[in-house]
Amino acid sequence: MRIGILTGGGDCPGLNAVLRAAVRTVDVEYGGEVVGFRDGWRGVLNDTWEPLTIDRCRGILPRGGTILGTSRDQPYTQPDGVQQVEEALARHQLDAIVAVGGDGTMGVTNDLHNDGVPVVGVPKTIDNDIASTEMTFGFQTAVEICTYSIDRLHTTAESHDRVLVVEVMGRHVGHIAVWSGIAGGAAVTLVPEEPFDLDDVASRITARHRQGSWATIVVVAEGALPKPGTLTLKEPPVDAYGHQRLGGIANVVAGELEMLTGIETRTTILGHVQRGGTPVAFDRVLGTRFGVAAVDAVADGAFGSMVALQHGAIVRVPVAEGVGHLKMVEPDLLRTAALFEPQHPRTPLPPS
Ligand code: F6P
Repeated sequence: MRIGILTGGGDCPGLNAVLRAAVRTVDVEYGGEVVGFRDGWRGVLNDTWEPLTIDRCRGILPRGGTILGTSRDQPYTQPDGVQQVEEALARHQLDAIVAVGGDGTMGVTNDLHNDGVPVVGVPKTIDNDIASTEMTFGFQTAVEICTYSIDRLHTTAESHDRVLVVEVMGRHVGHIAVWSGIAGGAAVTLVPEEPFDLDDVASRITARHRQGSWATIVVVAEGALPKPGTLTLKEPPVDAYGHQRLGGIANVVAGELEMLTGIETRTTILGHVQRGGTPVAFDRVLGTRFGVAAVDAVADGAFGSMVALQHGAIVRVPVAEGVGHLKMVEPDLLRTAALFEPQHPRTPLPPS
């Protein structure tokens, strides 16, 4: 067996576990070689690659990022992109390419499959928003980092009786925000799934503080949106790939909350610290299981499939199922988070 493998899109902890597992599975169970394309699809188009061997993969399991590098380049921006991918397959005598990536990479994988190219997808993203898989690796690591940060912010918020607004990643969904908000004991969690009304949030925070509670941690997903007509946000800049560069909503939320509540409100934007560094054990194991399963899929000729986690088992789904729609936070989890939010007082508070 000869496979090509690449990592595309934003990096995420656990990518190296996939690479290591794919190499090991080819070597131990099928015999053959793995070609590691550099920087996502760019490496396929430019023919930049390295042989991925067991030796090359030693020591990479606990390392964040991806030893292959990554980019958002993709074949369909070039008139002869599909042909170039086919030529790469022929040049390296590959049975298939395993593409490890997020929704963008899975979209390209699906299109290539429809164009007759042998491909298998492995979903990754810290945002955990890819449909048809219960979890993507990288997500649990991000949640750990956010929870740890929220824990630390509690004590300083308490000492100063401040509101602290913590911004976490999640461009279309609030999985990281809700999980770390519940785990970290946030008072309020704002997510893209439920547009927010800061007047309402502010009045509940004010009541909370007047009742003697303090240290209000507000977790906001970077992609959270206000209810229409309540607040205007600036259009985010767009990068070279048409990808909106989010980040900074916490500053807007904090400014508004301070004005509305009169309580000093500060901001912490966690940013890429959520994506960097060593994966937690769960993500190492899930990445490893996905790597094994992707090679099995190639061996079975299951092209156009994406490996996924469903009910604790690793399964194959058509990659088409993983693209085009997002996995939102389950209503049950949103309800659980909301139970811990400050409520409007049952009886009106006396005037301050
Ligand atoms: O991987 C998804 C994600 O973490 C989003 O939550 C975030 O908006 C985006 O990546 C940022 O990616 P980059 O900084 O690489 O453009």
